[in-house]
Amino acid sequence: MKLVFSGIQPTGNLHIGNYLGAVRNWVALQEKFKCIFCIVDMHAITVWQDPSMLVENTREVAAALIASGIDPKTQILFNQSRNPDHANLSWILNCVARLGWLNRMTQFKEKAGKNRENASVGLYTYPNLMAADILVYQATHVPVGEDQKQHLELARDIAQKFNSDYGADIFPLPEPLITGAATRVMSLRDGASKMSKSDPSDLSRINLSDGADAVAQKIRKAKTDPNPLPDSIEALSGRPEADNLISIYAAFAGISREDSISINSGKQFSNFKRDLTDLAVSVLEPINNEMRKLLSEPEYIDGILANGGERAVDVSRPVMGKVFQAVGFRS
Ligand code: AMP
Ligand code: TRP
Repeated sequence: MKLVFSGIQPTGNLHIGNYLGAVRNWVALQEKFKCIFCIVDMHAITVWQDPSMLVENTREVAAALIASGIDPKTQILFNQSRNPDHANLSWILNCVARLGWLNRMTQFKEKAGKNRENASVGLYTYPNLMAADILVYQATHVPVGEDQKQHLELARDIAQKFNSDYGADIFPLPEPLITGAATRVMSLRDGASKMSKSDPSDLSRINLSDGADAVAQKIRKAKTDPNPLPDSIEALSGRPEADNLISIYAAFAGISREDSISINSGKQFSNFKRDLTDLAVSVLEPINNEMRKLLSEPEYIDGILANGGERAVDVSRPVMGKVFQAVGFRS
Protein backbone atom coordinates (compact mmCIF):
# COMPACT_ATOMS: atom_id res chain seq x y z
CA MET A 1 0.00 0.00 0.00
CA LYS A 2 1.26 3.48 -0.83
CA LEU A 3 1.73 5.87 2.06
CA VAL A 4 2.99 9.43 1.65
CA PHE A 5 5.01 11.09 4.41
CA SER A 6 6.61 14.51 4.48
CA GLY A 7 7.95 16.97 7.01
CA ILE A 8 8.56 20.68 7.36
CA GLN A 9 10.44 22.63 10.01
CA PRO A 10 8.70 25.19 12.23
CA THR A 11 11.61 27.60 12.06
CA GLY A 12 9.77 30.73 11.03
CA ASN A 13 7.73 31.86 8.15
CA LEU A 14 7.04 29.48 5.27
CA HIS A 15 8.03 30.98 1.94
CA ILE A 16 7.08 30.27 -1.66
CA GLY A 17 10.05 27.87 -1.97
CA ASN A 18 8.41 25.65 0.66
CA TYR A 19 5.02 26.16 -0.94
CA LEU A 20 5.92 25.59 -4.60
CA GLY A 21 8.65 22.99 -3.93
CA ALA A 22 6.75 20.93 -1.38
CA VAL A 23 3.40 21.93 0.14
CA ARG A 24 1.53 22.42 -3.12
CA ASN A 25 2.49 18.90 -4.14
CA TRP A 26 1.30 17.56 -0.78
CA VAL A 27 -2.12 19.09 -1.41
CA ALA A 28 -2.35 17.30 -4.76
CA LEU A 29 -1.16 13.96 -3.34
CA GLN A 30 -3.76 13.86 -0.58
CA GLU A 31 -6.46 13.43 -3.24
CA LYS A 32 -5.01 10.04 -4.16
CA PHE A 33 -3.08 8.66 -1.18
CA LYS A 34 -3.12 8.28 2.55
CA CYS A 35 -0.76 11.01 3.79
CA ILE A 36 1.02 11.92 7.01
CA PHE A 37 2.32 15.50 7.29
CA CYS A 38 4.63 16.33 10.14
CA ILE A 39 5.84 19.64 11.56
CA VAL A 40 9.31 18.59 12.64
CA ASP A 41 9.91 20.48 15.89
CA MET A 42 12.56 17.95 16.98
CA HIS A 43 14.55 18.75 13.85
CA ALA A 44 14.11 22.46 14.52
CA ILE A 45 15.99 22.32 17.86
CA THR A 46 19.15 21.00 16.15
CA VAL A 47 19.87 24.74 16.03
CA TRP A 48 18.80 27.00 18.91
CA GLN A 49 15.09 27.88 19.04
CA ASP A 50 13.57 30.23 21.53
CA PRO A 51 10.93 28.02 23.26
CA SER A 52 8.07 30.52 23.11
CA MET A 53 8.82 31.22 19.43
CA LEU A 54 8.88 27.50 18.70
CA VAL A 55 5.35 27.08 20.05
CA GLU A 56 4.15 29.99 17.91
CA ASN A 57 6.01 28.91 14.80
CA THR A 58 4.58 25.41 15.08
CA ARG A 59 1.04 26.84 15.10
CA GLU A 60 1.90 29.18 12.27
CA VAL A 61 3.17 26.37 10.05
CA ALA A 62 0.10 24.29 10.91
CA ALA A 63 -2.11 27.25 9.91
CA ALA A 64 -0.16 27.71 6.67
CA LEU A 65 -0.55 24.05 5.77
CA ILE A 66 -4.28 23.98 6.47
CA ALA A 67 -4.77 27.30 4.64
CA SER A 68 -2.86 25.86 1.67
CA GLY A 69 -5.37 23.02 1.44
CA ILE A 70 -4.06 20.20 3.64
CA ASP A 71 -7.08 18.43 5.13
CA PRO A 72 -6.31 17.45 8.73
CA LYS A 73 -9.44 15.30 8.95
CA THR A 74 -8.76 12.89 6.11
CA GLN A 75 -4.97 13.04 6.54
CA ILE A 76 -2.75 13.11 9.61
CA LEU A 77 -1.21 16.49 10.53
CA PHE A 78 0.79 16.79 13.76
CA ASN A 79 4.03 18.00 15.27
CA GLN A 80 6.78 15.42 15.58
CA SER A 81 7.36 15.65 19.36
CA ARG A 82 3.82 14.34 19.97
CA ASN A 83 4.88 10.88 18.83
CA PRO A 84 7.88 9.51 20.81
CA ASP A 85 8.32 6.70 18.26
CA HIS A 86 10.33 9.07 16.02
CA ALA A 87 13.00 9.52 18.72
CA ASN A 88 12.83 5.86 19.66
CA LEU A 89 13.46 4.59 16.13
CA SER A 90 16.04 7.27 15.45
CA TRP A 91 18.26 5.87 18.24
CA ILE A 92 18.16 2.44 16.65
CA LEU A 93 18.94 3.98 13.25
CA ASN A 94 21.89 5.87 14.82
CA CYS A 95 23.31 2.41 15.38
CA VAL A 96 22.63 1.34 11.77
CA ALA A 97 23.86 4.40 9.83
CA ARG A 98 27.64 4.69 9.36
CA LEU A 99 29.76 7.74 10.22
CA GLY A 100 31.07 7.77 6.67
CA TRP A 101 27.54 8.12 5.31
CA LEU A 102 26.74 11.13 7.50
CA ASN A 103 30.09 12.73 6.70
CA ARG A 104 28.94 13.09 3.11
CA MET A 105 25.82 15.15 3.93
CA THR A 106 26.17 18.54 2.31
CA GLN A 107 23.38 20.17 4.36
CA PHE A 108 25.30 19.53 7.59
CA LYS A 109 28.38 21.16 6.10
CA GLU A 110 26.34 24.20 5.01
CA LYS A 111 24.45 24.55 8.30
CA ALA A 112 27.43 23.90 10.58
CA GLY A 113 29.52 26.45 8.70
CA LYS A 114 33.14 27.03 9.62
CA ASN A 115 32.75 26.38 13.34
CA ARG A 116 31.87 22.70 12.96
CA GLU A 117 33.19 21.71 16.40
CA ASN A 118 30.51 23.88 17.92
CA ALA A 119 27.55 22.42 15.97
CA SER A 120 25.11 20.32 18.01
CA VAL A 121 25.40 16.55 17.77
CA GLY A 122 21.71 16.62 16.78
CA LEU A 123 22.53 18.66 13.69
CA TYR A 124 24.95 15.92 12.65
CA THR A 125 22.49 13.05 13.21
CA TYR A 126 19.57 15.06 11.77
CA PRO A 127 19.33 12.79 8.69
CA ASN A 128 18.91 9.70 10.90
CA LEU A 129 15.92 11.30 12.63
CA MET A 130 14.56 12.18 9.21
CA ALA A 131 14.93 8.53 8.13
CA ALA A 132 13.11 7.49 11.32
CA ASP A 133 10.25 9.93 10.56
CA ILE A 134 9.64 8.20 7.27
CA LEU A 135 10.38 4.59 8.16
CA VAL A 136 8.42 4.50 11.43
CA TYR A 137 5.25 4.69 9.30
CA GLN A 138 6.61 2.38 6.59
CA ALA A 139 6.05 5.31 4.21
CA THR A 140 6.66 4.60 0.52
CA HIS A 141 6.66 8.09 -1.05
CA VAL A 142 8.20 11.32 0.19
CA PRO A 143 7.40 14.62 -1.61
CA VAL A 144 10.19 17.15 -1.01
CA GLY A 145 12.14 19.91 -2.72
CA GLU A 146 15.41 19.21 -4.52
CA ASP A 147 17.52 20.08 -1.43
CA GLN A 148 16.32 16.96 0.42
CA LYS A 149 17.35 14.46 -2.26
CA GLN A 150 20.57 13.45 -0.52
CA HIS A 151 18.77 12.89 2.80
CA LEU A 152 16.24 10.68 1.04
CA GLU A 153 18.98 8.59 -0.53
CA LEU A 154 20.48 8.15 2.93
CA ALA A 155 17.08 7.06 4.31
CA ARG A 156 16.96 4.38 1.61
CA ASP A 157 20.47 3.17 2.49
CA ILE A 158 19.55 3.02 6.18
CA ALA A 159 16.33 1.10 5.46
CA GLN A 160 18.20 -1.38 3.31
CA LYS A 161 20.96 -1.93 5.86
CA PHE A 162 18.46 -2.40 8.70
CA ASN A 163 16.46 -4.93 6.68
CA SER A 164 19.58 -6.86 5.72
CA ASP A 165 21.42 -6.69 9.10
CA TYR A 166 18.37 -7.95 10.97
CA GLY A 167 17.11 -10.28 8.25
CA ALA A 168 13.74 -8.58 8.52
CA ASP A 169 11.81 -7.09 5.64
CA ILE A 170 10.26 -4.28 7.67
CA PHE A 171 11.03 -1.07 5.84
CA PRO A 172 10.04 -0.32 2.24
CA LEU A 173 12.69 1.80 0.47
CA PRO A 174 11.07 5.27 0.33
CA GLU A 175 10.86 6.97 -3.06
CA PRO A 176 11.49 10.72 -3.30
CA LEU A 177 8.84 12.68 -5.21
CA ILE A 178 10.51 15.82 -6.52
CA THR A 179 7.95 17.32 -8.88
CA GLY A 180 6.68 20.60 -10.28
CA ALA A 181 8.26 23.50 -12.14
CA ALA A 182 9.97 24.92 -9.04
CA THR A 183 11.73 22.15 -7.11
CA ARG A 184 14.46 24.62 -6.17
CA VAL A 185 13.27 28.19 -5.81
CA MET A 186 16.16 30.64 -5.60
CA SER A 187 16.54 33.85 -3.61
CA LEU A 188 14.98 36.94 -5.22
CA ARG A 189 18.19 38.84 -4.45
CA ASP A 190 20.68 36.28 -5.74
CA GLY A 191 19.88 33.66 -8.37
CA ALA A 192 22.75 31.50 -7.13
CA SER A 193 21.48 30.87 -3.61
CA LYS A 194 18.41 28.96 -2.45
CA MET A 195 15.38 30.85 -1.11
CA SER A 196 15.62 30.16 2.60
CA LYS A 197 13.97 31.02 5.92
CA SER A 198 17.37 31.84 7.36
CA ASP A 199 18.45 34.43 4.74
CA PRO A 200 18.95 37.68 6.69
CA SER A 201 17.28 39.71 3.92
CA ASP A 202 13.48 39.47 3.98
CA LEU A 203 13.50 40.81 0.40
CA SER A 204 15.10 37.51 -0.67
CA ARG A 205 11.87 35.56 -0.12
CA ILE A 206 8.09 35.85 -0.40
CA ASN A 207 6.50 34.57 2.79
CA LEU A 208 3.07 32.97 2.88
CA SER A 209 2.23 35.55 5.54
CA ASP A 210 3.08 38.48 3.21
CA GLY A 211 0.13 40.61 2.11
CA ALA A 212 -0.41 41.72 -1.51
CA ASP A 213 1.61 44.92 -1.09
CA ALA A 214 4.64 43.10 0.29
CA VAL A 215 4.45 40.52 -2.52
CA ALA A 216 4.33 43.32 -5.12
CA GLN A 217 7.24 45.17 -3.52
CA LYS A 218 9.45 42.08 -3.29
CA ILE A 219 8.82 41.11 -6.91
CA ARG A 220 9.45 44.71 -8.02
CA LYS A 221 12.77 44.71 -6.20
CA ALA A 222 13.80 41.24 -7.36
CA LYS A 223 17.19 41.20 -9.06
CA THR A 224 17.08 40.84 -12.86
CA ASP A 225 19.29 41.55 -15.86
CA PRO A 226 18.96 44.20 -18.59
CA ASN A 227 17.63 41.96 -21.41
CA PRO A 228 14.01 41.11 -22.25
CA LEU A 229 12.83 37.55 -21.61
CA PRO A 230 14.08 35.09 -24.25
CA ASP A 231 12.01 32.61 -26.26
CA SER A 232 13.53 29.32 -25.10
CA ILE A 233 14.62 27.55 -21.92
CA GLU A 234 18.13 27.14 -23.37
CA ALA A 235 18.49 30.90 -23.73
CA LEU A 236 17.96 31.25 -19.97
CA SER A 237 21.33 29.68 -19.27
CA GLY A 238 23.66 32.18 -17.62
CA ARG A 239 20.61 34.20 -16.52
CA PRO A 240 19.81 32.63 -13.14
CA GLU A 241 17.49 35.41 -11.92
CA ALA A 242 15.37 35.34 -15.09
CA ASP A 243 15.33 31.54 -14.95
CA ASN A 244 14.11 31.63 -11.35
CA LEU A 245 11.27 34.08 -12.06
CA ILE A 246 10.16 32.06 -15.10
CA SER A 247 10.06 28.91 -12.93
CA ILE A 248 8.12 30.68 -10.19
CA TYR A 249 5.61 31.91 -12.77
CA ALA A 250 5.26 28.38 -14.16
CA ALA A 251 4.74 26.86 -10.72
CA PHE A 252 2.11 29.40 -9.70
CA ALA A 253 0.29 28.99 -13.02
CA GLY A 254 0.54 25.19 -12.84
CA ILE A 255 2.21 25.04 -16.26
CA SER A 256 5.60 23.83 -17.56
CA ARG A 257 8.68 26.04 -17.73
CA GLU A 258 8.47 25.79 -21.54
CA ASP A 259 4.92 27.18 -21.51
CA SER A 260 5.96 29.89 -19.08
CA ILE A 261 8.68 30.98 -21.50
CA SER A 262 6.38 31.02 -24.49
CA ILE A 263 3.76 33.09 -22.63
CA ASN A 264 6.34 35.61 -21.39
CA SER A 265 8.94 35.71 -24.18
CA GLY A 266 9.89 39.19 -25.39
CA LYS A 267 8.46 40.95 -22.32
CA GLN A 268 10.53 43.54 -20.49
CA PHE A 269 11.03 42.70 -16.83
CA SER A 270 8.82 45.61 -15.74
CA ASN A 271 5.80 44.09 -17.53
CA PHE A 272 6.65 40.53 -16.63
CA LYS A 273 6.98 41.46 -12.97
CA ARG A 274 3.55 43.04 -13.00
CA ASP A 275 2.01 39.87 -14.47
CA LEU A 276 3.92 37.68 -12.04
CA THR A 277 2.70 39.80 -9.13
CA ASP A 278 -0.94 39.46 -10.23
CA LEU A 279 -0.54 35.72 -10.58
CA ALA A 280 1.28 35.26 -7.26
CA VAL A 281 -1.23 37.41 -5.37
CA SER A 282 -4.17 35.50 -6.88
CA VAL A 283 -2.77 32.29 -5.35
CA LEU A 284 -1.32 33.68 -2.13
CA GLU A 285 -4.02 36.09 -1.01
CA PRO A 286 -6.69 33.47 -0.19
CA ILE A 287 -4.05 31.43 1.69
CA ASN A 288 -2.95 34.50 3.59
CA ASN A 289 -6.53 35.40 4.58
CA GLU A 290 -7.30 31.87 5.73
CA MET A 291 -4.05 31.73 7.72
CA ARG A 292 -4.98 34.88 9.62
CA LYS A 293 -8.40 33.45 10.46
CA LEU A 294 -6.89 30.20 11.73
CA LEU A 295 -4.24 31.95 13.80
CA SER A 296 -6.91 33.82 15.70
CA GLU A 297 -7.98 30.42 17.11
CA PRO A 298 -4.83 28.85 18.57
CA GLU A 299 -6.82 26.27 20.60
CA TYR A 300 -8.39 24.98 17.40
CA ILE A 301 -4.94 24.46 15.84
CA ASP A 302 -3.57 22.81 18.99
CA GLY A 303 -6.58 20.45 18.99
CA ILE A 304 -5.85 19.41 15.41
CA LEU A 305 -2.19 18.71 16.21
CA ALA A 306 -3.07 16.72 19.35
CA ASN A 307 -5.56 14.62 17.44
CA GLY A 308 -3.09 14.10 14.57
CA GLY A 309 -0.43 13.02 17.08
CA GLU A 310 -2.69 10.32 18.52
CA ARG A 311 -3.54 8.99 15.08
CA ALA A 312 0.16 9.02 14.15
CA VAL A 313 0.98 6.85 17.18
CA ASP A 314 -1.70 4.38 16.08
CA VAL A 315 0.16 3.91 12.79
CA SER A 316 3.72 3.79 14.13
CA ARG A 317 3.31 1.67 17.29
CA PRO A 318 2.76 -1.67 15.50
CA VAL A 319 5.82 -0.95 13.31
CA MET A 320 7.91 -0.24 16.44
CA GLY A 321 6.71 -3.60 17.81
CA LYS A 322 8.17 -5.35 14.78
CA VAL A 323 11.39 -3.35 15.03
CA PHE A 324 11.84 -4.16 18.75
CA GLN A 325 11.35 -7.83 18.01
CA ALA A 326 13.80 -7.78 15.08
CA VAL A 327 16.47 -6.01 17.15
CA GLY A 328 16.04 -8.38 20.13
CA PHE A 329 14.42 -5.98 22.61
CA ARG A 330 11.41 -8.33 22.85
CA SER A 331 10.91 -11.99 22.10
P1 AMP B 1 12.27 23.21 5.42
O1 AMP B 1 11.71 24.56 5.47
O2 AMP B 1 13.74 23.18 5.28
O3 AMP B 1 11.74 22.30 6.48
O4 AMP B 1 11.72 22.59 4.05
C1 AMP B 1 10.40 22.09 3.89
C2 AMP B 1 10.18 21.63 2.47
O5 AMP B 1 10.32 22.71 1.56
C3 AMP B 1 11.18 20.56 2.01
O6 AMP B 1 10.51 19.61 1.20
C4 AMP B 1 12.18 21.33 1.20
O7 AMP B 1 12.79 20.53 0.20
C5 AMP B 1 11.28 22.39 0.56
N1 AMP B 1 12.05 23.61 0.25
C6 AMP B 1 12.72 24.41 1.15
N2 AMP B 1 13.31 25.44 0.52
C7 AMP B 1 13.02 25.30 -0.81
C8 AMP B 1 13.33 26.05 -1.98
N3 AMP B 1 14.05 27.19 -1.93
N4 AMP B 1 12.86 25.61 -3.18
C9 AMP B 1 12.10 24.48 -3.26
N5 AMP B 1 11.78 23.72 -2.19
C10 AMP B 1 12.22 24.12 -0.98
N1 TRP C 1 14.68 17.83 6.50
C1 TRP C 1 13.47 18.33 5.89
C2 TRP C 1 13.71 19.79 5.47
O1 TRP C 1 14.40 20.52 6.11
C3 TRP C 1 12.30 18.24 6.81
C4 TRP C 1 11.99 16.82 7.14
C5 TRP C 1 12.19 16.22 8.35
C6 TRP C 1 11.43 15.85 6.28
N2 TRP C 1 11.79 14.92 8.29
C7 TRP C 1 11.33 14.66 7.05
C8 TRP C 1 11.03 15.85 4.95
C9 TRP C 1 10.84 13.46 6.51
C10 TRP C 1 10.53 14.66 4.41
C11 TRP C 1 10.45 13.48 5.19
O2 TRP C 1 13.15 20.21 4.53
